[in-house]
Amino acid sequence: MELTYRPRRLRRTPALRAMVQEHQLRAADFIYPLFVHEGATNEPIGAMPGAQRWSLEGLVQEVGRAWGLGIRCVVLFPKVADGLKTEDGAECFNEGGLIPRAIRRIKAAHPGMTIMTDVALDPYSCDGHDGIVSAEGIVLNDETVEILCRQAVAQAKAGADLIGPSDMMDGRVGAIREALDEEGFEHVGIISYTAKYASAYYGPFREALDSAPRAAAGKPIPKDKSTYQMDPANGRECLTEALLDEQEGADILMVKPGLAYLDIIHRLRGETELPIAAYNVSGEYSMVKAAAERGWIDERSIVLETLLCFKRAGANLILTYHACDAAAWLAEEG
Ligand code: PBG
Repeated sequence: MELTYRPRRLRRTPALRAMVQEHQLRAADFIYPLFVHEGATNEPIGAMPGAQRWSLEGLVQEVGRAWGLGIRCVVLFPKVADGLKTEDGAECFNEGGLIPRAIRRIKAAHPGMTIMTDVALDPYSCDGHDGIVSAEGIVLNDETVEILCRQAVAQAKAGADLIGPSDMMDGRVGAIREALDEEGFEHVGIISYTAKYASAYYGPFREALDSAPRAAAGKPIPKDKSTYQMDPANGRECLTEALLDEQEGADILMVKPGLAYLDIIHRLRGETELPIAAYNVSGEYSMVKAAAERGWIDERSIVLETLLCFKRAGANLILTYHACDAAAWLAEEG
């Protein structure tokens, strides 16, 4: 054939391919989510092979391992004892609570590690919702935001670097910004769950924390989070959320879940100059793990490909339970 242009020329050798590669993965792109509980030992999570509910001691060790692999940010999630769960989730702003203690322990042992926290009531709510559920079964917005502000301040006092509101209440980013500033935490950043969809991909996470919505005596509890999390059918709506979060002072915008929402990441990339994070959520992790255990897929190749595709779509940062494995594989590849 007489072809002028042969795209295969630039794919011929590994060196040529490396020269024209548009995107690369680095360990510093990852944010590593970690579960912590009050127990003295680490507890494997059934639906998330390889993930644990860490004891405080185990958590500090795991953060050290991640640091050694080049990971520079972790995000913490608490498994709260049932006895501490209430309708208003007040345990979330207990300065002596599990998360503030975990933050202090990590900062003492690994001061360079960036610590991100999650702001929402679900791990602390006996109803399993991110906000307060009224007697009529409505998830209350403004009342919830007040509590979220206290949660964020408690986390900042313990030493959190990045506050991650995952609750999807309206106006929470601005309110949290103001609360942090008032308390002298203007240096603490907000990584907002900007476009967070009402998704079945969070199933394994809710098992890990035992935080799914649950029936209560005396009031109707919404079975899902669709009155505050976004409808998976909606694309344009992410622009409204992003605009509001930017106006309210978010430093980083996040899209969640990740894989089925690459179009949302791409869309936001065209609209904002802020860094974008993608959350490769628990259900995405568990599906890969399950298929790999059966020998149906090659875990290493699939994970590295998936994470790279988040970058191609426009993400700067990736929250992923594969963070340590991926960082180790990248180091091997050199
Ligand atoms: C809490 C929260 C959830 C996740 C992160 N923060 C669950 C939810 O909104 O129901 C999910 C993370 C994952 O599935 O990996 N609001």
